[in-house]
Amino acid sequence: MAKKTLIKGRSRARKQPARNAVRRSAEWFGKPGMDGFHHRSWMKNQGLPHHLFDGRPVIGICNTWSELTPCNAHFRVLAERIKRGVYEAGGFPLEFPVTSLGETLMRPTTMMFRNLASMDVEESIRANPLDGVVLLVGCDKTTPALLMGAASCDLPTLALSGGPMLNGRFGTETIGSGTHVWKFVEREKAGEMSLQDMVDAEACMSRSVGHCMTMGTASTMASMVEALGMGLPSNAAIPAADSRRNALAHMAGRRIVEMVEEDLRMSKILTRKAFENAVRVNGAIGGSTNAVVHLLAVAGRMGVKLKLDDWDVLGRDIPCLVNLMPSGSYLMEDFYYAGGLPVVMKELAENGLLHKSAKTVNGKTQWANVKDAKCYSRDVIHSFKKPFKKTGGIVVLSGNLAPQGAVLKPSAATAKLMKHKGRAVVFENIEHYKERVDDPKLDIDETCVMVLKNCGPRGYPGFSEVGNMALPQKLIKKGVTDMVRVSDARMSGTAYGTVVLHTAPEAAAGGPLALVQDGDIVELDVGKRRLHLHVSDEELEARRKAWKPDPAPTRGYAKIFHDHVMQADTGCDFDFLVGSSGAPVPRESH
Ligand code: FES
Repeated sequence: MAKKTLIKGRSRARKQPARNAVRRSAEWFGKPGMDGFHHRSWMKNQGLPHHLFDGRPVIGICNTWSELTPCNAHFRVLAERIKRGVYEAGGFPLEFPVTSLGETLMRPTTMMFRNLASMDVEESIRANPLDGVVLLVGCDKTTPALLMGAASCDLPTLALSGGPMLNGRFGTETIGSGTHVWKFVEREKAGEMSLQDMVDAEACMSRSVGHCMTMGTASTMASMVEALGMGLPSNAAIPAADSRRNALAHMAGRRIVEMVEEDLRMSKILTRKAFENAVRVNGAIGGSTNAVVHLLAVAGRMGVKLKLDDWDVLGRDIPCLVNLMPSGSYLMEDFYYAGGLPVVMKELAENGLLHKSAKTVNGKTQWANVKDAKCYSRDVIHSFKKPFKKTGGIVVLSGNLAPQGAVLKPSAATAKLMKHKGRAVVFENIEHYKERVDDPKLDIDETCVMVLKNCGPRGYPGFSEVGNMALPQKLIKKGVTDMVRVSDARMSGTAYGTVVLHTAPEAAAGGPLALVQDGDIVELDVGKRRLHLHVSDEELEARRKAWKPDPAPTRGYAKIFHDHVMQADTGCDFDFLVGSSGAPVPRESH
């Protein structure tokens, strides 16, 4: 039932929408009388000519540009390139800002604001005259936040990542974002690096536009965008400073107009098969543990049943193919030159581990996109037969210390620590850890298990990336490089170590982690997927009776977050945001 629009016809023939419906934007721009006047007139103060309101697809460019998010600081250029593509394909682009989440500056942690940003995205899309959306994503949380918000609206949507920085160089050493920060801190603690060297290294590490160029969370999530089918082929790895990133933005602009005409909505792409592909790709790239939480949340918004255990079941036999920091030695720039993510996906597909028929935003299947991919360096991207590491994927642990699960990234861990029993050295919270860890009197050696509490979703608050807590200085000086660490925190995707994360329920929610005491024996057995606290049930019950939660926040966003955030095993979305309500046109208010 087509509604009447003020402007009929176009100067050139155009394809009709796939559905027999007036475009969503026509509810604003296509109306006669006062309503249409309002909607068009004020837009015209931007110098927009009348023909742009003729019913062509209106494309929102959802931009997370901010100087406070340095990884996304080049996004105005990308937005302009997207606009070129949109205009070229006969669409009408309109750029709008949403909350940007800069990983390196925001406190207490960007994760606390991921859901807030997703609400901003969802409501900005739903409230405005948009037919399709390009999501401009880059720094860690900007990708899941925008995917989550857009998923709740379910319009034709394409995600474009901003691309990684060029390789870092410090002297003759290739250095990677984040990964070398941990290394430098340890070198400085060990007296091998001066403070001036540290200052010099800052500029050496971040020497171009773009996000972290290790296989950290940003690169992992850019890969997830491609693996889910939400981005164009090669979205993950083209460096931000490479002119081909701008060309990709241009093509994204062209393609989103076609997607509107084909009515290719997110729900047609983000199926269970798409998520299964992404989980396996995450294993093959040695991707960040943060992807677990983010994909669970995006799936929750789409109504796709993805569970924490799926990560273990689907990823169990996936070897790590990609030799990138933090698990390996290369960086995203090398990954792109070696062929990028299409090579990895082709390897998985040829070994029966990819749903070839999964649809992608370019209208083709994943297999059509990757079947001709060529590998230019087997040192960077290994074959399935000769993988970089036999164990990729994410291990999901459970036991009396993590009844709802915990995760560990085996490709970043030390093989001999995967089965380990040790005496717990407990830090009640991050401040307690900082006070205590370098105290020479701390009773700790390399066989101990470091336990950090109260850093989960409610605990920090916001689920901070402190799970890979640095080892005590006195042990680093002895040459110790890894120890088993257990917490309810997350870990930066650029970090490494035998680190058990996301223990659920978290300590602040009364999970068993809250009950661990100095001297308890903790057992990790990755082979058996077990995380066990050797304390009797009776003793744990007695400790539980004595446990008291910290006071909850009483106002503002912190209160909303505390009261509604779900636990790590379900993706830490807000309980009232799960599911999707689409993008019905809101009621006119004047
Ligand atoms: Fe932005 Fe790493 S700090 S991607």
